[in-house]
Amino acid sequence: MDAQRYFSRLSKYHGALKGLRRQKPPVFLYMPVPLIIAIDGPAASGKSTLGFRLAETLGYLYFDTGLMYRAITWLVLKRGMDVKNEAVVTQLAQEVPIEVSPPSLEDGRTCDVVVDGLDITWEIGKPEIDSNVSTVAAYPGVRTALSIQQRRIGKRGRVVMVGRDIGTIVLPEADLKIYLDASPEQRARRRYDEILSRGGKASYEEILAKVIQRDRIDSTRIVAPLKAAKDAIILDSDKLSADQVFEKAYDLCIN
Ligand code: DC
Repeated sequence: MDAQRYFSRLSKYHGALKGLRRQKPPVFLYMPVPLIIAIDGPAASGKSTLGFRLAETLGYLYFDTGLMYRAITWLVLKRGMDVKNEAVVTQLAQEVPIEVSPPSLEDGRTCDVVVDGLDITWEIGKPEIDSNVSTVAAYPGVRTALSIQQRRIGKRGRVVMVGRDIGTIVLPEADLKIYLDASPEQRARRRYDEILSRGGKASYEEILAKVIQRDRIDSTRIVAPLKAAKDAIILDSDKLSADQVFEKAYDLCIN
C-alpha cells in the first residue's frame, strides 16, 4: 500500500472513531424492576386490585397494611373494649401480633389475616369494622406499632405494599410510588356493586356518606395523613378501567 492510500485510510478510521465518541454513551438495555413498590390512595380506589395483580405478575409479596388496622379494630370490638379509649387500643396494638401472610385459600382473599390463632380474613371486611377503623388508625401509638412491623417486611424488598402512608412514612425509600385516586362517588359505586355481587344488601347513599367520612378522618388526622408523596405518580381510576390501571402501573415497573 502506498503512503497516500495508507494515510487516507488512517484519517477515515480516525473520523469514524470521532463519530463514535460523539454518540451518547449506550443506554442501559436492562432497567431493574423496582424492588419496593408503594401504592397509596383513599378507600376503595382500587389499590388492592392493582397491588395484588402487580405482585402476582412480578412474583412479589402483596401486603395490604389496611388489614392490620382492621385486625386491631376487630379485636377491640370482639373484646368489648371502647374504640374511643386510645390508651387501651394502643396497648392492644403493641402487644398482639397480627399475622398477614399470602392467601392459603382460593376464596377471593388477597392475604390471610390471623389473630389469636383465628383466621379473621373475612370478619375484618364487615361494615362495623368499616365504621370504626378510621378512629383506630388515627391513634399515633397504634400507627407506630404497626408501621414498625410493616417497615420490617417492606425493607426485605420484592414487595408491593398498599396503604395510605406507605410512600410518605412507612417506606419513603420505595423505588416506585403510585397514588391511586378516584372520586368518592365512583368509589362508593364500586363498594356498592361489590356488596351486591356477593349477594348482600346495601344503600349507595349510606356507602357514599361513609366513604366521605373516612376520607375526612384519614386525610385530616395529625399523624401520617392520607396524601400523595411528592415523588408519587398519580393515577386516576375514575377515567380508567382496572385493566388500564394495571397496564399503566406495570409499564411504570418495566420502563
Ligand atoms: O384500605 P382499608 O380500607 O382496608 O383501610 C382501613 C383503614 O385503615 C382506613 O381507615 C385507613 C387506614 N389505613 C391507614 O391509616 N394507613 C394505612 N397504611 C392503611 C390503612
